Amino acid sequence: MDTKSKIEIGAFPIAKILVAMGMLFFLTQACQPDTELNIQSEPSPLLISINHFPEMSLEEGKELTEEAIAAGKALFFDPILSRNRDLSCSSCHLTHLAFSDGRAVAIGTEGRLHNRNSPTLFNVAWQPYLFMDGGNPTLESQVIGPIEEHREMDLPYSEAITRVAAVDYYQELFQRAFKEDVNPKTLALALATYERALVSFNSPFDRYEYAGDASALSPAQKRGLALFKSAELNCVACHVLPLTTDFSFQNNGLYEVYEDPGRARVTNNIPEHEGQFKVATLRNIALTGPYMHDGSLGSLEEVVDHYASGGSNHRLKSSLITGFSISAQEKADLISFLEALTDTTSYKAYMP
Ligand code: HEC
Ligand code: HEC
Repeated sequence: MDTKSKIEIGAFPIAKILVAMGMLFFLTQACQPDTELNIQSEPSPLLISINHFPEMSLEEGKELTEEAIAAGKALFFDPILSRNRDLSCSSCHLTHLAFSDGRAVAIGTEGRLHNRNSPTLFNVAWQPYLFMDGGNPTLESQVIGPIEEHREMDLPYSEAITRVAAVDYYQELFQRAFKEDVNPKTLALALATYERALVSFNSPFDRYEYAGDASALSPAQKRGLALFKSAELNCVACHVLPLTTDFSFQNNGLYEVYEDPGRARVTNNIPEHEGQFKVATLRNIALTGPYMHDGSLGSLEEVVDHYASGGSNHRLKSSLITGFSISAQEKADLISFLEALTDTTSYKAYMP
């Protein structure tokens, strides 16, 4: 299969996208923002620095360069990485759904059902570990997961390397990016670098909260934000701003009996870690339903109902999940605020 014809490299260079995003952000500000995306593309590497986010820490050798991002982007959309050449990373991480897939649980090659929901990939650069149970330490090591996983792409990593290395086009891209062949290290690095470039920081909420644009949120969204931060609802205790997560593992009372052990899958510590999952990011949440690790809540309304009810009585349920009473108006306000976490400038920028 000729993969070259499928890939349009350079048609949408990421540096320009990011610069354009910065420009767009700048132009949409009535007042001078104290939040902006600073890119230095001369010389490589690029620097992504978002004033109101923590610094993106990049180890040596993992610099964001236009060339590495281009190599990773080509791979991300290429079904060459699946045994039957039927799935690419983007089959389950779709750009227009903020890199989620709209399904309750993912469906891999030959219709095999996964037990977990495909999460957004925006802002993964800030994640201290990957997977809902934290079972994977870095974006580089994570790459091997979906490629080899029986319920995902089901291809031995060594075969993925052989396949990609046989394509001249990729050899060229990798030489340009890393001055090295396609090999186990560079293939993972390319995909991880592309993923680190997926940043989402310019939602109406960001413009309101961090750039002083008082009109970026509607009155309903402002009331919803106040509820989100309120002592009674206290969503911010776990969904810490600005990233909307503190990356801790919490049992939010979804079930009394968990089929998926969550964090305990990694630690084997059922007594202390059962049903704990990484606090999910809420950025672009309106695009990433259905919700929770297994996609069991179909809408944001169901999510709010879940928290309002106080959830199920699991012995490890966080003491923060106690339930609250909320009027229909307040519920609508809260959901309207959650919708203001959608960053359309970012997701459009990453469309292939
Ligand atoms: C069959 C669907 C499917 C495919 C194909 C797939 N993923 Fe995923 N991805 C998932 C699911 C489901 C999860 C959640 C797994 C978990 O948390 O245990 C996930 C999780 C991730 C995460 C962790 C995100 C986080 O917040 O912890 C990253 C990063 C990721 N995928 C990248 C990729 C890359 C890169 C590829 C291609 C090499 C890929 N995925 C292919 C379904 C898929
Ligand atoms: C005790 C910590 C905690 C508190 C407090 C909390 N959450 Fe969560 N939230 C989580 C965890 C953990 C998950 C992921 C659960 C899972 O994967 O099953 C989550 C998931 C979600 C999701 C689904 C994310 C996704 O992509 O599937 C939404 C939406 C959400 N929370 C909204 C809220 C709102 C609104 C509040 C306040 C009413 C709130 N949360 C309070 C810990 C918390």
